[in-house]
Amino acid sequence: MTVIKAMRRREFLGLGLGTTGAILLSQCSRGASQSSVPGSALAQAPVHSSEGGLLSFDLVAEAQQVKLGNRNANLLTYNGQVPGPRLEAKPGDTVQLRFTNRLNQSTNLHYHGLHIPPTGTGDNVFLEIPPGETYSYEFQIPANHPAGTFWYHPHYHGLVAEQLFGGLAGLFVVRGELDEIPEVQAAQEEFLILKDFALDRSGNIPNPGHMAQMTGRIGDLLTANGQFNPSLEIPQGGLLRLRLLNASSSRFFWLSLEDHPFYLIATDGGAIASPVELNDLVLAPGERVEVLVKGDREPGQYRLLNQPFNPAQGMMGGGRMGGGMMGGGMMGSSPNRNSTETVATLTYNGTTDALPLPNQLLTVESLPEPQATRQFTFNHGMGMGMVFLINGKAFDHNRIDTQVLLNTVEDWEIINTGTMAHPFHVHINKFQVISRNGQPTPYAAWKDVASVSPGETIRIRIPFRDYAGKTVYHCHVLDHEDRGMMGILDIQQT
Ligand code: C2O
Ligand code: CU
Ligand code: CU
Repeated sequence: MTVIKAMRRREFLGLGLGTTGAILLSQCSRGASQSSVPGSALAQAPVHSSEGGLLSFDLVAEAQQVKLGNRNANLLTYNGQVPGPRLEAKPGDTVQLRFTNRLNQSTNLHYHGLHIPPTGTGDNVFLEIPPGETYSYEFQIPANHPAGTFWYHPHYHGLVAEQLFGGLAGLFVVRGELDEIPEVQAAQEEFLILKDFALDRSGNIPNPGHMAQMTGRIGDLLTANGQFNPSLEIPQGGLLRLRLLNASSSRFFWLSLEDHPFYLIATDGGAIASPVELNDLVLAPGERVEVLVKGDREPGQYRLLNQPFNPAQGMMGGGRMGGGMMGGGMMGSSPNRNSTETVATLTYNGTTDALPLPNQLLTVESLPEPQATRQFTFNHGMGMGMVFLINGKAFDHNRIDTQVLLNTVEDWEIINTGTMAHPFHVHINKFQVISRNGQPTPYAAWKDVASVSPGETIRIRIPFRDYAGKTVYHCHVLDHEDRGMMGILDIQQT
């Protein structure tokens, strides 16, 4: 067994390391409140897979009343569902997606994490699809595209946080090599879309308060696949493959599973080289991970816990959420807003011969030395309310902020001089985090979201391959993005 124990107490996918938080973890877990009784069985959104190399699908965005747990909620849906349908394709497939906007405001679609053209009918976030209109997206997933957990969501600047918070998000899964590793294939696969909501008494989403300008809108209702504390079952001895997405507009998740380590097998951009054992993990908005869980404990119930996470401090300050800023940005009325909550419950049912973990996954390419290095400083200031800035500038549709050349590799330093964590995200091209505050990262992984804590600098290495054109990078706290924390990247043909 070559499982790397990279970190004893904690691994941080998104943020810097700290030890204070580890102590708080065990304290919080014992104090975990409410909803300890698991709800209904975990449901999965309907799946639409490609056939004969074609994924052809109609998607409609529309306000609808849906059930959120046992509550009636007036949300924004894709095809009447929250979360939206899961799309599945394979490398080389063509995707034809006829999208109809039945919202009362403009929207569009972004294919978060897919390596496809940023132009034309591809992952073109500069499109505006007005109410009542239909647009046909069409693109090809390259034959060498890695398998992974990607997703689609609206990306119409200024309304992204609102529309995502309303419920618009769905998975876009690419099946491939990772799925064919025998031990991974033998595992029971479950998708968990983690998302916060807020509802008033009549089931409407309340207006985000004033404080939400800083933290982004954060709801007090935690859901997994639109359910409150759903239950999932594996046999004792079995192996669970959990594929997690944080589809919240602004909320970070800080997760641990009682008595069970996670074995990380994939990050945003696909597989890592071999499983890494983690006791807990932080998922910034937009981030995904895949972990394996071994059913090697006593029969019983084990809670998947979320600890409050303070984005104003990140892990550096202990991570624990107090009242203050975070409490102020919270929407809704749950009394549990500052306590550890149960996101889902794992129950053992039956037994099976113990399934092993994979020794090896897939090679993560080591990138060549960069041809250029750039710096991006993230901060905020006061304008018309709070504005969020990259290199001192707020987003401008008509300004190109960064020009790079196709078929080059660059190092980008992301510097956070502000007081909030900013999960940095780039469209189209994935990257590897080389270091955090000068400390090399413990293992190579493909990412498209990497959170930067206040006071922290991370260095990422990013290759620009295959596709020229304009696209964007931004903070994935979507209220920050809507308030200016986005820049335009122009990838130029040489
Ligand atoms: Cu999921 Cu531009 O983002
Ligand atoms: Cu994206
Ligand atoms: Cu931000």
